[in-house]
Amino acid sequence: MKPDVAKRDLLRVTDLSRAECEALFTLASELKAALRAGKPRPVLAGKTLAMIFEKPSLRTRISFETGITQLGGHAIYLAPADIRLAQRETVADIARTLARVVDMIVARTFLHTVLVELAERADVPVVNGLTDFHHPCQVLADLFTLHERRKALDELRIAFVGDGNNVVHSWLEAATLYRFTFALACPHGYEPDAAILAECRAKGAVIEITNDVADAVHNADVVYTDVWTSMGQEEEAAARRTRFAPYQVNDDVMRRAARGALVMHCLPAHRGEEISESVIEGPQSIVFDQAENRLHLQKALMAWLAQEARR
Ligand code: CP
Ligand code: NVA
Repeated sequence: MKPDVAKRDLLRVTDLSRAECEALFTLASELKAALRAGKPRPVLAGKTLAMIFEKPSLRTRISFETGITQLGGHAIYLAPADIRLAQRETVADIARTLARVVDMIVARTFLHTVLVELAERADVPVVNGLTDFHHPCQVLADLFTLHERRKALDELRIAFVGDGNNVVHSWLEAATLYRFTFALACPHGYEPDAAILAECRAKGAVIEITNDVADAVHNADVVYTDVWTSMGQEEEAAARRTRFAPYQVNDDVMRRAARGALVMHCLPAHRGEEISESVIEGPQSIVFDQAENRLHLQKALMAWLAQEARR
């Protein structure tokens, strides 16, 4: 690919405008319907996606790999031991080598700064498959999941119970595109990054942060949670289990939410920790719709990024 080619990356939710986000939802719906009708759309025929993973993954890996295959392309999975990012060779050298050979890169890195460097040095679109700071593909798929259920995103109260982590940061950014209220209940000391929070509030995001689960979930339309210990924080797991014990999404918590509130979780889930078995398996849970929609949303994203790179 020529070095002066304009390309777009998706490193965080705010890399998209609201209009682009909605165009992705439309395309994702079309691709989902086409798949169900058995009518493939090989819009990425002959294209190759490099998939760099520094951390484990089920959903992100299978959805990108299946997604590019369904679009007529091909994926190369690069496990941590394959390239040893920034150890065997520099991030910049890896980025420039990949950009000479493949058409797009998805990367799951520990440090968000590593992903940013990869994107700066690669002349092909780079997609964030999760970093310590952001998980935009997850939240875009989650927004799509609510959108396809005909939820008016601007009118929702979305309560997040748990850690102010990467998934929360992406929700905070989504709250700059839509006017929903994002209410986070987390223990003191586990709030989201102060700079991201301030940036999102300055852009008009409606964000409430409390230590009280009941306050956050009161009348919520969506109750969302994620693991208490994210990948890379395993040494803190015991301390976090104690600290987060009052922050479990269970039947008592759900009784405080709006009638028929939806339960969301990005998965993997730890039943008995951040969510009870009864809630994740209950009728309000849409966690597997979220998981499936990673495929459809990311297919739309890859098709769109490839088109942008050709402009
Ligand atoms: N939700 C999510 O990103 O799952 P994986 O870690 O399995 O990819
Ligand atoms: N916060 C979690 C999300 C997993 C999809 C983690 O980073 O491990």
